[in-house]
Amino acid sequence: MLSSFVFVLLELLNTMPNRKILVTSALPYANGPIHLGHLVEYIQTDIWVRFQKQRGNECYYVCADDTHGTPIMLKADREGITPEQLIAQVGKEHILDFTEFGVAFDNYHSTHSEENKLFSELIYKRLQAAGHISSRSITQAYDPVKNMFLPDRFIKGECPKCGAADQYGDSCEACGATYSPIELKNAVSAISGAKPVEKDSLHYFFNLADFTGMLSEWIKAGHLQPEVCNKLGEWLEGGLQQWDISRDEPYFGFEIPDAPGKYFYVWLDAPIGYMASFKNLCDKQGLDFDAFWAEDSDAELYHFIGKDIIYFHALFWPAMLSGAGFRTPSAIFAHGFLTVNGEKMSKSRGTFITARTYLEHLNPEYLRYYFAAKLSGGVDDIDLNFDDFSQRVNSDLVGKVVNIASRCSGFIAQRFANGLSPNCSEPALFQEFVNVNEQIAGFYEAREYGKAMREIMALADKANHYIDEKKPWLIAKQEGKDTDLHEVCSMGINLFRLLAAYLKPVIPALAENAECFLNIASQSWPADAKPLSGHVINAFKPLMTRVEADKIAAIVEASKENLEKTAGQPKAKRCEPIADTIAFEDFAKLDLRIGKIIKADPVEGADKLLQLTVDIGDETRNIFAGIKSAYAPEELEGKLTLVVANLAPRKMRFGISEGMILAAGPGGKDIWILSPDEGAAAGMRVK
Ligand code: 2FM
Ligand code: ZN
Repeated sequence: MLSSFVFVLLELLNTMPNRKILVTSALPYANGPIHLGHLVEYIQTDIWVRFQKQRGNECYYVCADDTHGTPIMLKADREGITPEQLIAQVGKEHILDFTEFGVAFDNYHSTHSEENKLFSELIYKRLQAAGHISSRSITQAYDPVKNMFLPDRFIKGECPKCGAADQYGDSCEACGATYSPIELKNAVSAISGAKPVEKDSLHYFFNLADFTGMLSEWIKAGHLQPEVCNKLGEWLEGGLQQWDISRDEPYFGFEIPDAPGKYFYVWLDAPIGYMASFKNLCDKQGLDFDAFWAEDSDAELYHFIGKDIIYFHALFWPAMLSGAGFRTPSAIFAHGFLTVNGEKMSKSRGTFITARTYLEHLNPEYLRYYFAAKLSGGVDDIDLNFDDFSQRVNSDLVGKVVNIASRCSGFIAQRFANGLSPNCSEPALFQEFVNVNEQIAGFYEAREYGKAMREIMALADKANHYIDEKKPWLIAKQEGKDTDLHEVCSMGINLFRLLAAYLKPVIPALAENAECFLNIASQSWPADAKPLSGHVINAFKPLMTRVEADKIAAIVEASKENLEKTAGQPKAKRCEPIADTIAFEDFAKLDLRIGKIIKADPVEGADKLLQLTVDIGDETRNIFAGIKSAYAPEELEGKLTLVVANLAPRKMRFGISEGMILAAGPGGKDIWILSPDEGAAAGMRVK
């Protein structure tokens, strides 16, 4: 009953004019690259957004990097940089990958932003004022060396159920058991290796149970896919627990108002990042934020997510929004995971493929089409099978769609100076292609892209069949049949134009090149398209080439190589290439000094850093150096070394670094700081 209700609703939405729609994809964590698993969601969302825009709706697509939490803080530490530097670097890479895959966000922001801080505090304060926040002390595992509480994922030990070694603090990968980290046998901190101790600390909680009634109603109102609804029903029946929304310092995130040393848990401020990114867009473009987020907003709000984060989006998030006086989502669209060749993506098999590795070898629109062909509106996993991938792209896009244009354009160019016939010889066939538009639109709207692709390919088959029957290559050889040849080939081009319009949300670059070839403006949804008559087109250039099998092999090989690199085992020992030549004046800008290390201390909470006090002649400098893996502090005291003395001071989490000492080597134990020959003294300039 529910699904037919949703279907009627979709039909209704699909015919409503000028809808106002805000769409999001889940925010990727800012500590790793985008991979093909992520791209299922971004491509799925981007297709939907492009479809809505092509239909003439006012639609915005926003996203951001999810920047807070312990893993990001620790990764920055390991790399000897600040979390801010890490998230800036990863943010740039994410944006580049998305852009090259044609994922066209209207705004891409960061959860470590002013807007997000503001909304997180506002929502928290409103929930607190309404009595939905409570606090109490809880006991948790604590790393006595790193002086920090350990998230479950940072505790390792033996499974209490099956005894498997090296299991995480929350679940066992060997037997699937779940447990509390306290139950783990011979537990150690994955950060320092120390044995965790138990420690109490005050935590803040969101009283989710206050929203049981509201959530039951919301779930029943048709905002979710049927399979998601069932899962939520089970959770609700089990009773909703308080949600722990605070973490103790050290933590990279936003400090909770009036709670010094306590930070919002990353999952509290992550979805608020949707609002923050949209606010940032509103400020840039003068849009009305409240029109989309106020409690009485008539705009539509959709979140595309993976099925693993339904709990956060379909329970916590609507409850938080409702408790803080904002509107709730119109729908949450969950999708399944990606498997490659039938199995979980695997680094050792070379099937854990990053967006960058793919882009280095293959056209991104192949993957967009392949995912579209496999996607439905449900939560089933989808499989990327490389043989199927090549076969579908080659046969559908190259063999069917592009082929229509290439079969007809040669005659139009050679015999009719690129001009199309003034007469449409098969108006019924053209109209048949137009009439299917509502059905295809319905499939896009319902995220049944696989069905939409099948419908479009059936049209492509029809167009090819028409050409096969008419045999323009034979007509071309017959005397006095110029008009026939002109009409048949023009018909083919007109049908190709409609196919390009239908495929535009999926393969926008090909569609744009097709528009260029057809010499037409950007195509809107072809609900009332008319044939191009007497119109002059441009010269045809191949719009897509076939997938080459060796490119796929190269991707798999490169993905295995990535693994070797990340494991710190480069294939061959090679020197870094020499950097670009610089002018002497640029070199002269560096003020290098002999420095004497007077004191060296470990830095609490930082794996890689040592804090050095360095005498550089007339002054001493505080310098943080990422050399802890290679030097014990006592080895360094008294040593002379080289210091970059005029480097701008750098604010780090542990204090300000006032310079840099010079060292060589790949890292780990292999780092060697530079020292001068005997006779040099602190403060001397190095030239
Ligand atoms: O699971 C994840 O990758 C999260 N970074 C998704 C966050 S989505 C939203 F809530 F911000
Ligand atoms: Zn186990």
